[in-house]
Amino acid sequence: VTVDAPEPHPHLWFPFTYHDDLAAHPPVVIERGEGVWLYARDGRAYLDAVGSWWTSLLGHRRPEIVDAIATQLSRLEHVMMAGFVTEPVLGLADRLARHLPPELSRYFLSDNGSTAVEVALKMALQYWALRGEERPHIIALGGAYHGDTLGAMSVGDIPAYHATFHRLWKGGLFTDPPSCYRCPVAREPATCAAQCMDSLERLLDAHEGQVAAVIFEPMVQGVAGMRVYPAKVLQRVMDLCRARGVLTIADEVAMGMGRTGRFLATEHAERVPDIACLAKGLTGGFLPLAVTAVQEHVYAPFRGSRGSGRILHHGHTFTGNPLAAAAACATLDVLDALDIPASLGPITEHFARRLQGFLEFSAVGDIRQLGLVGALELVHDRASKAPLPAEAQTAWRIHLRALELGLILRPLGDVLYFLPPLTVTSAELDLMFDRARQAMADVLGAA
Ligand SMILES: Cc1ncc(COP(=O)(O)O)c(C=O)c1O
Repeated sequence: VTVDAPEPHPHLWFPFTYHDDLAAHPPVVIERGEGVWLYARDGRAYLDAVGSWWTSLLGHRRPEIVDAIATQLSRLEHVMMAGFVTEPVLGLADRLARHLPPELSRYFLSDNGSTAVEVALKMALQYWALRGEERPHIIALGGAYHGDTLGAMSVGDIPAYHATFHRLWKGGLFTDPPSCYRCPVAREPATCAAQCMDSLERLLDAHEGQVAAVIFEPMVQGVAGMRVYPAKVLQRVMDLCRARGVLTIADEVAMGMGRTGRFLATEHAERVPDIACLAKGLTGGFLPLAVTAVQEHVYAPFRGSRGSGRILHHGHTFTGNPLAAAAACATLDVLDALDIPASLGPITEHFARRLQGFLEFSAVGDIRQLGLVGALELVHDRASKAPLPAEAQTAWRIHLRALELGLILRPLGDVLYFLPPLTVTSAELDLMFDRARQAMADVLGAA
């Protein structure tokens, strides 16, 4: 691995990083990017298979987005969005209205995925309060991840990330995890009848009239290990809510913007959520920006004049930053110009075919894929699905070997995943999978 940074760094505190490992594996200093490639200070090139935490929607330094930011920079860097608005923000609203289902017609801007979720939760709780009902509960799915801020963590269900903080809230409501590989009701995907969501029905019934909203990652639970679940599960979640008048919040932060083959992943279920959150790829991965999009009936109770109390008490300093909005406009224009996601069929087929090839490794227990999201879950034993011993750090060692081979593959536990840009070519996919295969063979031994 390239060693070209001070070790360990005297000042920086890196996210999700074990600092005592920095001496052996210091961060790689990246100087430049282009398409799927990141170039380090020492001249090495890395193929970015994970899209820099799932943000790089159209590849690094996509020229149209570079130009849009540069043009905006020559005019204005920022103005507060209370009482003022800018051309890029107005343009973004027009574009969102064209890309989102028509019901999602009102947009609140902020600047990261966790905040888009916080805003959605606050909207849902205040929506009921403004209607004169107290509904204190939000239900989330087992295995959920919605961000790292306190409110977002309150609906998170990944023990390693959330357990320490959950004592702050007590009594979070979580369904069974919609985890097909380890189905909580022991069904195969072919015979799935969405029974994992019986647990949601029970929770909704037990807290009748007290649930403000149900929040979910549509179709794929990302941080839980790119767990893809069937559209019928999502349909059941949304139908149970609709039948009881409970709001639905689709956290599209990771899977929106075309990644799964639809602009919103929720579209796979042919349903429209009351609230949807977008971030990450919204600016093509260039700048922080998030949107909480709502249906008009969610927005309606918040309409009022000064003194009415009908206002959403939320707004970050950089809400509606015009540089980020210009990047988002350019991103959505590129999606239009390339007819993404409609045009992704052939590259997605190639992606899916190559993923299946990893079955040659007996340690690959499960292969999951939706659109250009793919994952391999490594296990000790395919038949029993027994996990690998955590202390073996198998996927992490594969990641370290992949770095030596010029591939960024940072895993989630023992799940290796691939989120290439939607503009990836077949040749780049082949190189990505060939290098991943080599790294796996080097660590796991012969297939
Ligand atoms: C589904 C989901 N929601 C929210 C977030 C939080 O986004 P951010 O890291 O921009 O705060 C993430 C981040 O991975 C995510 O995957």
